[in-house]
Amino acid sequence: MTITLITGANKGIGYETARQLLALGHVVYVGARDAERGAKAAAELGARSVRLDVTDDASVRDALAEIDSAEGRLDVLVNNAGVLGHGAMDGPTALKTFDTNAVGVVRVTEAALPLLRRSANPTVVTVSSSAGSFWAVTNPDRPEYSLPLALYSASKAAATMLTVQYAKSQPGIRFNAVEPGTTATDLTAAFGVGRTPEESARVVVRLATLGPDGPTGTFQDEHGEVSW
Ligand SMILES: NC(=O)c1ccc[n+]([C@@H]2O[C@H](COP(=O)([O-])OP(=O)(O)OC[C@H]3O[C@@H](n4cnc5c(N)ncnc54)[C@H](OP(=O)(O)O)[C@@H]3O)[C@@H](O)[C@H]2O)c1
Repeated sequence: MTITLITGANKGIGYETARQLLALGHVVYVGARDAERGAKAAAELGARSVRLDVTDDASVRDALAEIDSAEGRLDVLVNNAGVLGHGAMDGPTALKTFDTNAVGVVRVTEAALPLLRRSANPTVVTVSSSAGSFWAVTNPDRPEYSLPLALYSASKAAATMLTVQYAKSQPGIRFNAVEPGTTATDLTAAFGVGRTPEESARVVVRLATLGPDGPTGTFQDEHGEVSW
């Protein structure tokens, strides 16, 4: 039995990742900051739900404690929760964007580490973005070049860097970052772009189901490694 926690899994790519991992036989905890939305999604999927707001230390601690007492370990963590952080370019918006997209990864990962260390094949996947790739945003041939999302890009660059740093400091656990592909979700609704969450979740699932010999410290999309 593989025990999996996905943050921000009440909708979008996280929800579809939950569906696909459940189909592969995982026990999936749908993390959601709103308990009701989480419970509804989990009931639809046949998953378990746990209240988890990645910007709230106590909520993160309680969520991992709940999984610890029910399962005694965690095999797969998917750091998926994220916000776009568009609108005002100011301190409060920057704090909220970084708090969710980067600090949230630290909060959840730190709380999960003791449980992951009890797994035979521990894996962490952080859903980052190619909008956080220096290579992509400085390449005029790439769509990320003209994305007007400075805070999102900067916070995702931090999320990818955290992945690399965790891979180095935690050699017994695989850490990989993923660009899932442009996807039509509530996050991108204002742009009217993207493919289905089902297609993008497959990219996340591939990294969440790596065997013990799989890579660590990489940043990948569906084609393989993405330049930093
Ligand atoms: N869509 C794309 O094209 C695309 C491309 C590259 C990367 N990504 C990344 O993929 C991930 C999923 O995005 P999505 O497109 O599926 O967007 P989405 O449909 O808006 O889903 C985002 C999820 O994150 C949750 N969330 C936001 N803040 C949270 C918090 N403080 N604590 C816990 N959960 C929180 C949301 O919960 P609520 O329902 O409560 O708001 C929701 O469940 C994000 O990290 C995003 O940056 C998306």
